[in-house]
Amino acid sequence: MVLERDVADDDELPEHVRRNRVRWNAEAVNYAASGERAWAREEPTWGVWRVPESQLGVLPEDLAGKVAIELGCGTAYVSAWLARRGVKPVAIDSSPAQLATARRLQLKHALEFPLIEADAERVPCRGEAFDLAISEYGACLWADPDRWVAEAARILRPGGELIFLVNSVLFALCVPAEEGVAGERLLRPAFGMRRIEWPGDPGVEFHLLHGDWIRVLRHNGFEIEDLIEIRPPESATTSYDYVTLEWARQWPGEEIWRARRR
Ligand SMILES: C[S@@+](CC[C@H](N)C(=O)[O-])C[C@H]1O[C@@H](n2cnc3c(N)ncnc32)[C@H](O)[C@@H]1O
Repeated sequence: MVLERDVADDDELPEHVRRNRVRWNAEAVNYAASGERAWAREEPTWGVWRVPESQLGVLPEDLAGKVAIELGCGTAYVSAWLARRGVKPVAIDSSPAQLATARRLQLKHALEFPLIEADAERVPCRGEAFDLAISEYGACLWADPDRWVAEAARILRPGGELIFLVNSVLFALCVPAEEGVAGERLLRPAFGMRRIEWPGDPGVEFHLLHGDWIRVLRHNGFEIEDLIEIRPPESATTSYDYVTLEWARQWPGEEIWRARRR
């Protein structure tokens, strides 16, 4: 079994992890329906525009038999997609409410894999236990990159792959802090961007410039293999209201990093 360390006590958690846990415990009820729809999809889709895997080629081809960990799994549909492709996933999340939805959907779809309440900055698993670590708007957006990338490097075996999907830099610069959609003006400085607390949102996000991602990945022993900037097809739709199709067809709103542990 890959589990090793105890889960951190609440008062040991960094402040942003505690705040994000409170946020996601409260938000879980609003994410259940989209989790249900994602679990029901046979083909993986990526990001808010649900671009099919067949168009993006995000996942490695030789998945069957691999051991994977999803960092900040939410309702764990990415792990479900992997499990249906022969992967043995372990899904971790710091929010018990999100994991409760994941558990309910496991039962509904008769698909079991370990769901663990844990902080991706301190993963309770032994080193070099996984072939693949993946995060879709999970720990990769809500955890401190210096800490979760170091943990991903620790728990991946040499040659193992890290895949994560986050908002693009352009999106982070162009989206209004209050309500509204991403526009055509840069609304904040790029230099110094890292930890972002949006007004009215109790959570803490991390948005990095590409150079900062490259440095944190390389510092932790990863070679970067790809940066997929997602362009949704003309027919794409989304249930999210902070970006329009017209905008996302012109500028990358989301990006997927693929890196390999040396
Ligand atoms: C937008 S959800 C993304 C997950 C999944 N792709 C989904 O949409 O259901 C973000 C998840 O990251 C989790 N998360 C945030 N910070 C975390 C951390 N430090 N460790 C583990 N999970 C974390 C949250 O609890 C939440 O469930």
